[in-house]
Amino acid sequence: MRVAVIGTGYVGLVAGTCFADSGNDVVCVDIDGAKIDALRRGEIPIYEPGLEELVERNAAAGRLTFTTRLPDAVSRAEVVFIAVGTPQGDDGSADLQYVLAAARAIGRSLGSYTVVVDKSTVPVGTAKKVREEILSVAPNADFDVVSNPEFMKEGAAIDDFLSPDRVVIGTESQRARDLMAELYAPFTRRSNRILFMDPQSAELTKYAANAMLAARISFMNEMAALCEKVGADVDHVRLGLGSDSRIGLSFLFPGPGFGGSCFPKDIRALYSTARENGLDFNLLGSVDRVNEQQKQLLLRKAIRHFGGNLSGKHFGVWGLAFKPKTDDMRESPSIPLIEGLLGKGATVAAHDPVAHGTAKRIFGDRIGFTDTPYGAVEGADGLFIVTEWNEFRRPDFDRLKGLMKAPVIFDGRNVFDPARMRDRGFVYEGIGRGVAP
Ligand code: UDX
Repeated sequence: MRVAVIGTGYVGLVAGTCFADSGNDVVCVDIDGAKIDALRRGEIPIYEPGLEELVERNAAAGRLTFTTRLPDAVSRAEVVFIAVGTPQGDDGSADLQYVLAAARAIGRSLGSYTVVVDKSTVPVGTAKKVREEILSVAPNADFDVVSNPEFMKEGAAIDDFLSPDRVVIGTESQRARDLMAELYAPFTRRSNRILFMDPQSAELTKYAANAMLAARISFMNEMAALCEKVGADVDHVRLGLGSDSRIGLSFLFPGPGFGGSCFPKDIRALYSTARENGLDFNLLGSVDRVNEQQKQLLLRKAIRHFGGNLSGKHFGVWGLAFKPKTDDMRESPSIPLIEGLLGKGATVAAHDPVAHGTAKRIFGDRIGFTDTPYGAVEGADGLFIVTEWNEFRRPDFDRLKGLMKAPVIFDGRNVFDPARMRDRGFVYEGIGRGVAP
């Protein structure tokens, strides 16, 4: 099949590459010429395991090409994906200007019958707007609009795309439905889950999934706070709770607050959709507020430990990205933590396996970056663990203790066992782990 993908961000690049890998002829389009030039040279703008090799392989086979010329790509495509950004607008709603601009550009270039697919995360009603936008520039065009939200996770994007739990297709058109089923057939063999529905339900499904997952995390973060008060260990509660087959064990880890390009933005957008429709989605407001507070928790723990004064103290930070296996720092809890520490007069040295480049754009030379985790704790009054990269899980504890000025660890990811850490001679605080007075 001939496919065009508009937007070479996370979703567009991964989707385009995976469609090429299943034998389709894919053109990825972006208005950023420098990005397209880099992609043509095989340089990938993001860190995502396995993506570079997959791009290289499919580009070499001639199935995957990159261009800034949208009309050429669209006019020959049978399916066109819109995968541009939907940033948070001033009022919390999703800003659709890039999606609608892409729709108009597509409309001006459509050839014979084409399926135009909303892949970007967009509020309910957008498929209709995209259709109107295309018709406004091409009243006679032969096309259908499909809502096909993407559920991939950063750091596991390729596996998620090639082997999804489900594929959601929102359309009223049988012709579009058949084409989408054919395009996705190679990926839906395992789960056999290709769900067809109306576009509004498809659009809402994506937000509902992210909101439910975010709600689980905020629930666990509040549960962790209660565990601390009463001397319970949230990790036992997590296992006992998640073993109920109705609940399940995924997404029950308390932490320093969820981040990333999706959860924070999407719960606000869904809240805003509810408000526009006269509903106060109370629960979502709480999920967001709990998370904002949670992002201050590690800092509050340190302030309490040091009796309110962090001035002149030096801290190590392990992990900058919002989660492992990505260099993405959007809404990462490391940002408010580090800004808070600097604001209180402390100094910071940080280590992340892949996110130093991203972090330098945020912090410049206001913090130090070290090549190893151990470098970050040299002479430190305390260590914060913000991202649960595997390489932080089994450090040489004696070496760590020897390097630190004081053996104090604030662990935002509950990587270690509190009792064993005390035996090893550390002052160790996790999240919600039985620190009763
Ligand atoms: C999320 C959705 O999972 C994905 O389906 C959607 O397409 C995009 O948004 P992503 O943002 O890549 O994916 O990361 P995810 O693994 O979901 O983690 C989001 C945040 O929640 C991270 O900050 C993570 O650390 C946090 N998290 C996750 C927890 O704090 N506890 C958990 O138990 C799970």
